[in-house]
Amino acid sequence: GEGRMAEPEEIVCFIEAEIKKKLPLVNQKILVTAGPTYEAIDPVRFIGNHSSGKMGFAIADQLASMGADVILIAGPTAQTTKHKSVKRVDVTAASEMLNACLLYYKDVKACVMCAAVADYTPASVSPQKIKKKDGGLNIELKKTADILKTLGEKKQKGQVLIGFALETENEEYNAAEKLKSKNLDFIVLNSLNDKGAGFKTDTNKITIIDHKLHKTAFGLKSKDEVAADICNKIAELIHEEI
Ligand code: CTP
Repeated sequence: GEGRMAEPEEIVCFIEAEIKKKLPLVNQKILVTAGPTYEAIDPVRFIGNHSSGKMGFAIADQLASMGADVILIAGPTAQTTKHKSVKRVDVTAASEMLNACLLYYKDVKACVMCAAVADYTPASVSPQKIKKKDGGLNIELKKTADILKTLGEKKQKGQVLIGFALETENEEYNAAEKLKSKNLDFIVLNSLNDKGAGFKTDTNKITIIDHKLHKTAFGLKSKDEVAADICNKIAELIHEEI
């Protein structure tokens, strides 16, 4: 009858739906990339990098907690998302990451390109394990597509595109050049010269440079707190567009 308590699951679903309605990024689809890419040399070996994926996963979780529908394209990583609503797509090589990004990009409001994408890949992949011989070994490399630049060229009015720059010298100049050449709304700069920033750490220190070249420098924070700073900026930009 009317006085009967609803099932606890029903109550939780109702409360979740009510809370979600009030979140700042509700109904916004956002694409995030994270982690390294692995470029195969032969069936046993690859060229990779030190990216752990921590920053990208923290951003994906933060966006989901702000109500966004998140698609996370992840290179090889041991990370897992906390939010069960995040749709995860696993890829290995830069070319697969490009294809996955192109598949989802046209339908999203924003894209955060956090992955450490390989700039070069072996020109051909040996079908068999390369055997050791006397002397050295040369592997011919060819350039991969710049995924972020490709997305920047395809950016629609109202879409928000965010990139990262990991630099070791002339940090702000290099980041500003990437911002302009890749048609970004803002770029997140990390310098490997800052203690506690960069690969595998649980902390990061960033500077956000926007399209007017305004710079905002943040202190050393946990990657979850850094993700919150980046996602608040994304929410601000999305609401300016609406
Ligand atoms: N990026 C990309 N595709 C690539 C290389 C980089 O989408 N093939 C993206 C990264 O995800 C990041 C931004 O471009 O958001 C900058 O990456 P970074 O490695 O700092 O710079 P590059 O453009 O590769 O230039 P360089 O390596 O010469 O510094």
